[in-house]
Amino acid sequence: MVDARHGSGERRSRQDPVPATGVRLVFHVQVVSISSLKGGVGKTSVTTGLASAALAAGIPTLVVDLDPHADASTALGVRPEGQQDIGRMLKAPRRARLSEHVVPSGWVERAAAHGRAPAGSSPAILDVAVGSAYTGIYDRPDLGRRDLRRLSAVLAGADKYKLVLVDCPPSLNGLTRMAWTASNKVTLVAEPGLFSVAGTERTMRALQLFRREFAPNLSPAGIVANRVRTGSAEHTFRLSEMESMFGGLLLSPHIPEQANWQQIQGAAHSIHHWPGDSARNAAALFDALLANLLATDGRRATARVRDRARR
Ligand SMILES: Nc1ncnc2c1ncn2[C@@H]1O[C@H](COP(=O)(O)OP(=O)(O)OP(=O)(O)O)[C@@H](O)[C@H]1O
Ligand SMILES: [Mg+2]
Repeated sequence: MVDARHGSGERRSRQDPVPATGVRLVFHVQVVSISSLKGGVGKTSVTTGLASAALAAGIPTLVVDLDPHADASTALGVRPEGQQDIGRMLKAPRRARLSEHVVPSGWVERAAAHGRAPAGSSPAILDVAVGSAYTGIYDRPDLGRRDLRRLSAVLAGADKYKLVLVDCPPSLNGLTRMAWTASNKVTLVAEPGLFSVAGTERTMRALQLFRREFAPNLSPAGIVANRVRTGSAEHTFRLSEMESMFGGLLLSPHIPEQANWQQIQGAAHSIHHWPGDSARNAAALFDALLANLLATDGRRATARVRDRARR
């Protein structure tokens, strides 16, 4: 089981390895929501890019597909065989048996077939709590405190993971608020365009209010700039606007517009398994983004990785 006493979304696994010294290592399960009030800016793409990086790094990861459209489940190539979807688990959260109802991503098999399993140890873990239209019943603006804790209760069974990524729908209704309640970090996704930047500012304000009222231990959101076109004067302008508005919360690196992104998603492939230089560069960017996202001190390190990705 997981010890959920450590503030909003912060959980401690009691199954962490006990080294020879006898000192029990304590790893936190990081629960990260990927949100934006605006649709189509790349929440699911960033979620799956981070999941791909986590798989490549050998970090045991669960993706919770909270969007009723279930795009993340499709992109992650899941084939449920009678497991309950996340909507059904949320309906009876205290009785939910998460470990019995997650479905391994199809990427895991492919990683093994490519010989890409991380060196050394135990088999790679990338599981999915499968999305379905059924979650829509919770996407109301008036969800009460008790209902907001449904996902936290389901994730009490998430002790085999080090990272939980929650793909949210594009609204501030019950599902996103449920995800924030269960999280210790929120990542906002924005395109460098006027409406998206304005939407991010609104989401940021909503998140601040939410933290004050419901989740004082929730970290301030990091912001991922997605679909950045380096040659675009408008994007350059909006990116500098975002830097002045959000300062250090703007995560590095930015994710560029990727010509073959839809083809990769359509094939339900991981960016780390797709051939070619552009996919390799994008994979390195997600490696760096994941490292920065998980850095507890919020420093924007990994320039080295970014440089490698640019080459
Ligand atoms: N960096 C990128 N380069 C190219 N295409 C991208 C990129 N990021 C996202 N897309 C494309 O943009 C579309 C929307 O992306 P995605 O579904 O990830 O957004 P979303 O925010 O999850 O949408 P929704 O709000 O509907 O859940 C998809 O067709 C996706 O393939
Ligand atoms: Mg989505």
